Amino acid sequence: MPKVTFISQDGKETIVEDAIGNLMEIAREYDVDGIEGACSGCCSCATCHIRVKPEWLDKTGRATEAEQDLIDLESGTDERSRLSCQVEMTEALDGLVVEVAPF
Ligand code: FES
Repeated sequence: MPKVTFISQDGKETIVEDAIGNLMEIAREYDVDGIEGACSGCCSCATCHIRVKPEWLDKTGRATEAEQDLIDLESGTDERSRLSCQVEMTEALDGLVVEVAPF
């Protein structure tokens, strides 16, 4: 099973060893601080904003146009920003590390 690490704004790490689903769903299941997921993954709220560690960007890919439109409305965004509901965990992402973005 793929592993993912969330780093919250206060530096707390939440490590999920058997990550299944999209990152927003996983973060909510494991009570990661700062990931709300208000629209339940419909790509319409941006309350699931994360930043992908640079070394993982090639594998996760960058934000789609629809994601970017929402990300542009948030603070604390950069080229690593993604909406976690739009990132599906796969074996190829085993070891992924993401930061919860400021809100
Ligand atoms: Fe709303 Fe991701 S949960 S955009």
